Amino acid sequence: MSDLLSPHILAELVTAQPLRRDTYAGWTHHRMTRNQFVPAPRLTADQWGLMTDRDKSHYDLHRTFTHVNMPLQETPMALKVSRLVNRRIRNNALKKKDATLSGVMVSGWGYQGKTATVCEVASAFEDAWLDIHGFRSPDAVRGTLDLHAPVAYVQTPVTATPKSTCQAMLNFFDDTNRSMTLPQLVHQVAQSLEAHGVKALILDDITRLRMHRADDQDTLDLMRAFMSLNVTLILVGVDIAGSGLLREARWNAKKRQWVFPPSEQARVFGLEVTQTERRFDLIELEPFRYSTSPQIQAFIDHLGGIEENLRLLESWPGMLTDGGMPEYLMRRTGGVVGLLQRLIEDGAQEAMDSGQEFLDESLLDEIVISLDDPSRDPAAGEVPSVPVGTTRTRTKKVKRGRNTTLDDRGPAAHAEGA
Ligand SMILES: Nc1ncnc2c1ncn2[C@@H]1O[C@H](COP(=O)(O)OP(=O)(O)OP(=O)(O)O)[C@@H](O)[C@H]1O
Ligand SMILES: [Mg+2]
Repeated sequence: MSDLLSPHILAELVTAQPLRRDTYAGWTHHRMTRNQFVPAPRLTADQWGLMTDRDKSHYDLHRTFTHVNMPLQETPMALKVSRLVNRRIRNNALKKKDATLSGVMVSGWGYQGKTATVCEVASAFEDAWLDIHGFRSPDAVRGTLDLHAPVAYVQTPVTATPKSTCQAMLNFFDDTNRSMTLPQLVHQVAQSLEAHGVKALILDDITRLRMHRADDQDTLDLMRAFMSLNVTLILVGVDIAGSGLLREARWNAKKRQWVFPPSEQARVFGLEVTQTERRFDLIELEPFRYSTSPQIQAFIDHLGGIEENLRLLESWPGMLTDGGMPEYLMRRTGGVVGLLQRLIEDGAQEAMDSGQEFLDESLLDEIVISLDDPSRDPAAGEVPSVPVGTTRTRTKKVKRGRNTTLDDRGPAAHAEGA
């Protein structure tokens, strides 16, 4: 059993606290360790049977760890988003002319992989950017200690306000920001981004800034101020088109971009704002579909990738990809990657606990996909309703009509109405 991790390394692996990505230290840790995961070795039931009880318990811990930390897979939907985000960040970062930088908005329903997809592209960009610059900021002032942070990742706080959003941005760099007014905060954000050489600013869960409050105009003004910063702005949220954030924008069907007209004021929150229009691509991260053969094949390929990462002792090639299993998993999850991940994780644990050591429909029928994650904001649409579709209830559910929560209501639909 030479492939087994030593208890000492395993303990380090499983007890390390995941750092939050929305601080410079946490983001850097995430970026640098994201490809270093060591999965449990693949063993047969016979090999497992020969192990001591202690080794069995360590191995089981390692395989659970493997199941709940599966690597990201390339899906056609994520690839579409990654390509666009990557293009915008890189082209903008390399632009020498004093041009206005287009931003990107990534929309999609909860658990569809928006955060994971955007963070992966931005991490890859940062790796490459730091590498070509010898890990120093090209604009660094000699003798200063400013961190070089080509990417800043900020999570909009639950029940966000313009002020708390700015504070979250400053927290990324650990900048003190107590008792400042909103204009002071905006000013400080602008200074911070410049001092740290930020090229791309990700504002995740931006739709937590809901647009039905007294400070709506403050929110729109804040967006306008951010757009004037010399960074690629990447806004990520649930149903961005329906959130009110595009209220002041118009859809340019020819360029397929949202256009924010120039501001009527020269300054917003004391910050000089752009006098040219600002453009944004709005891209929808969609779930898997199951109508055409390429769509079905893409889903099956994804299931194949999951299968490769499962460490169940009695599994076989095709356990998730053959027969009625793909259709079953589509029905249970609506093709949402995050829900699929949840179902498989819990199913694998049940397969280990029960000793069955493989997944089938009857085992998965017993698993209820639970979304009790306190870091997600149900009021901002971040917790999708889970499709009901176990084998036992299949006929009934189909007759009762479709759950439309996960339907694509992407930019096109909204653009037509705009
Ligand atoms: N391409 C992928 N391959 C495998 N797993 C993925 C992929 N994308 C996302 N996941 C997994 O799906 C889960 C949900 O992803 P993520 O948190 O990025 O979704 P989200 O769209 O940002 O959700 P929310 O709107 O709630 O913030 C995570 O566990 C993530 O690891
Ligand atoms: Mg997210």
